[in-house]
Amino acid sequence: MRTHYCGELDSGHEGQEVVLCGWAQRRRDHGGVIFIDLRDREGLVQVVFDPDRAEVFQRAEQVRNEYVLKVKGRVRPRPEGTLNPDLPTGSIEVLGLDLEILNGSETPPVQLDAHVADASEEVRLRYRYLDLRRPEMQARLRARSRVTQVLRGFLDAEGFLDIETPILTKSTPEGARDYLVPSRNHPGEFFALPQSPQLFKQLLMMSGMDRYYQIARCFRDEDLRADRQPEFTQLDVEVSFMTEDELMGLMEAMIRHLFREMNGVELPDPFPRLTYAEAMRRFGSDRPDLRVPLELVDVADLMGEVEFKVFAGPAKDPQGRVVALRLPKGGELTRKEIDDYTQFVGIYGAKGLAYIKVNDWTSRGREGLQSPILKFLPDATIEGIMARTSAEDGDLIFFGADTASVVNESMGALRAKLGQERGLLAEGWRPLWVVDFPMFEQDSHSGRWVALHHPFTAPKEDQLDQLERDPGRCLSRAYDMVLNGTEIGGGSIRIHREEVQRRVLKLLEISDEQAEDRFGFLLRALKFGCPPHGGIAFGLDRLVMLLTGAGSIRDVMAFPKTQTAACLLTDAPSTVDEAQLRELALRIRLRA
Ligand code: AMO
Ligand code: AMP
Repeated sequence: MRTHYCGELDSGHEGQEVVLCGWAQRRRDHGGVIFIDLRDREGLVQVVFDPDRAEVFQRAEQVRNEYVLKVKGRVRPRPEGTLNPDLPTGSIEVLGLDLEILNGSETPPVQLDAHVADASEEVRLRYRYLDLRRPEMQARLRARSRVTQVLRGFLDAEGFLDIETPILTKSTPEGARDYLVPSRNHPGEFFALPQSPQLFKQLLMMSGMDRYYQIARCFRDEDLRADRQPEFTQLDVEVSFMTEDELMGLMEAMIRHLFREMNGVELPDPFPRLTYAEAMRRFGSDRPDLRVPLELVDVADLMGEVEFKVFAGPAKDPQGRVVALRLPKGGELTRKEIDDYTQFVGIYGAKGLAYIKVNDWTSRGREGLQSPILKFLPDATIEGIMARTSAEDGDLIFFGADTASVVNESMGALRAKLGQERGLLAEGWRPLWVVDFPMFEQDSHSGRWVALHHPFTAPKEDQLDQLERDPGRCLSRAYDMVLNGTEIGGGSIRIHREEVQRRVLKLLEISDEQAEDRFGFLLRALKFGCPPHGGIAFGLDRLVMLLTGAGSIRDVMAFPKTQTAACLLTDAPSTVDEAQLRELALRIRLRA
């Protein structure tokens, strides 16, 4: 129907007759002339209708916002003084010679000419097709399409095969709740939607495919937040006969290539690596934002004998941790701000947030400090803290004392928040690998060991004999890729020997019957010449979110779900009729 896109026209087209199709973003009547901003995927152009073509002019008068138009016209330079340097097509306009109204529109509930959405997210999601007409959203989905093309191109050139795996399948152990699908053919039985293609991609290695990838949809019924959706997309990868260093090198090269192609950014080569233990010690997090120049400093050894029980308790407890976190120029914080941060760490279970304001340590020593806990701390402890944190006059030192896990979570989150809110973020991109994860962590309620990654992750070769003796100290061959505080990918070298797999399952207290029932097919396959293999999965939505600077992965998905895992556009999930339930042999019993 068209000869050109609106947004591609420029002075090079002057004098040409063009046919454009698109939406009326705005109509303005100016002293007998009508201007319509016509919009399509590629941008906006101004169309002018003169009253001397009476019939066309009358039709133009009927046009309202979001009417769908087909315009025949001639490109001409804009008159002197009416050039719009903010618009790519701003040096020209199209004189309308003919106009067809292809469709009308009700007044849209979201404003489409605003760069930033003015409507609530609820309205945006309900009328997603309108929200997606906004240039900002168009640009994001376009970037997403480009990201998948670039990744596919890279992997294809490296000899990877794109292979699809089932959506109707059996539960995959990624640690979230499953979405279930009842089977009509097998009453009382259910498929689970895959939390990832994990087991299938391992089977593909056992099938001799050597290098697999897939842009795979994953389903996890878990608590949602800005970078989590119940249905999301992974770039999923698995390879045979590669060491972790080889695979990590290749995946790094892929991400470097992606950032170069998409944003013209050169990421470091190689990415720095941190062990899990070091990441937790220095940043309280296994996905540290390295743009934040703040670090946790252990001070338990200075606190063991202090009168203040809040510190002395965790300092003496082997499960405890006491840290200091120096905030340069933190002396400026008001009482209210400190209270707000105290409330913030409370979300993560911290019972308080002690602090010392360093007003004038240089000349007044102890007298120059200000803190509600100062009276509890002997000189030697204070000197130790000041030396270890390298605190200077004008700084503030926060303290966290609790179990190591509460301190890591709360002070790690505080570190990231301070970085954001106190303007401490360094410019640019800071990728890293986190390696040497523990194989297991102990569930604090049941005391059972659970896999930190998933139960198919291989232990380090030299630690195999530790497996049963000291599971808590056993390290795995897992690795995470982290970028600016977001975990963008994670994977591991897998167990490829049945005997090791059985030992790990046993440690996880998964009985032979359970193992057989849940992944007997995988255990069986391990018996038939399974190659050494490993892989990784990247959160595609998260990658696109970071590349486009979006605030949430919802903004880079065409049709995302709400925080309560519902689709406002289609009103899913919804009830089904009785006949369908009967066919599936299901009865609904709502909890009171
Ligand atoms: P994992 O569970 O770490 O590993 O997931 C891999 C990556 O997927 C992204 N991700 C999510 N993105 C959006 N919403 C979610 N709910 C969500 N959950 C995870 C993250 C994460 O790094 N099978 C293994 C991979 C492997 O071992 O190869 C797996 O799924 O960016
Ligand atoms: P309290 O003795 O409860 O008045 O606490 C004195 C100071 O220690 C206050 O600033 C509290 O915020 C802080 N505080 C209390 N518990 C902890 C904790 N577990 N870790 C760090 N600071 C704490």
